[in-house]
Amino acid sequence: MDRYALFGQPVSHSLSPLIHGLFALQFDQRLEYGLVNVGAAGFAGAVEAFFAEGGRGANVTVPHKQAAAALVAGLTPRAQMAAAVNTLRPSPDGLVGDNTDGTGLLRDLRDNLGIGLRDARVLVIGAGGAVRGILGPLLTEGPASLCIANRTLSTAEALATGFRGLGPVEARSLDELDRGHWDLMINGTSAGLAGGLPDLPRTLPARCAVAYDLSYSGHADTAFQAWAREAGTARSFQGLGMLVEQAAESFFLWRGLRPATGNVIETLRRGSGSGS
Ligand code: ATR
Repeated sequence: MDRYALFGQPVSHSLSPLIHGLFALQFDQRLEYGLVNVGAAGFAGAVEAFFAEGGRGANVTVPHKQAAAALVAGLTPRAQMAAAVNTLRPSPDGLVGDNTDGTGLLRDLRDNLGIGLRDARVLVIGAGGAVRGILGPLLTEGPASLCIANRTLSTAEALATGFRGLGPVEARSLDELDRGHWDLMINGTSAGLAGGLPDLPRTLPARCAVAYDLSYSGHADTAFQAWAREAGTARSFQGLGMLVEQAAESFFLWRGLRPATGNVIETLRRGSGSGS
């Protein structure tokens, strides 16, 4: 049976084995998708061993996405732009690193939720690895403006400088979000991993038409999603759809088949607990 795996730490609550199993069933196929819980010191060796033993593809999650980019023989343009890899596939020339996170987000926003980005005012909160992975794809959609707001202003400024060549990007501190209106607000901070929320002005959600949390918690609202809704955002979503869409793109890279995602998202929404 073809073998795939997710490398990260922690990975025990990952929904990826279930998602890829459901994708394979759509084509009457079976595959094995395992979880490899590994720290920084063991990451490169574990990946090497997996592919030496015939692994057909792998996903990479926190905290190894940047390390994976340094490990591979080649990067796709979107992985290069993200400076991070979430998908590995073998090739005759060695491992190729790709990044399907941004594509996954765009598919969820555009195709599943009907949220267009052309000429939209977009606010992205956070300036870490997760945000770096989505900025390029967001900017290729042609927003009117993209504001990166971060607790540490200098990190947001560095990202804005790096991506300004792709579109109208500005940086702000979280305090400076006490003014302005946005069509879409995206939470890309890792605050939710510890059950927390970034310290944002209470008036912000009422000035944003849509809130989207890159994190997800399954059937329940994430803390950010609930906060946004209660404070006045008309529509608020979590990243479960993005999770499934980035997985579908990985599946396509590995197996050349594009799975349908709607039923899989619905299954997870109804049935899942929290996960990473
Ligand atoms: P990831 O790979 O998940 O993006 P990361 O690269 O460590 O993780 O980035 C975490 C991001 O979440 C950063 O933008 C961080 O802000 P700082 O640059 O100021 O550290 C942000 N973040 C994490 N916890 C936060 C909190 N409680 N409030 C606000 N921002 C937070």
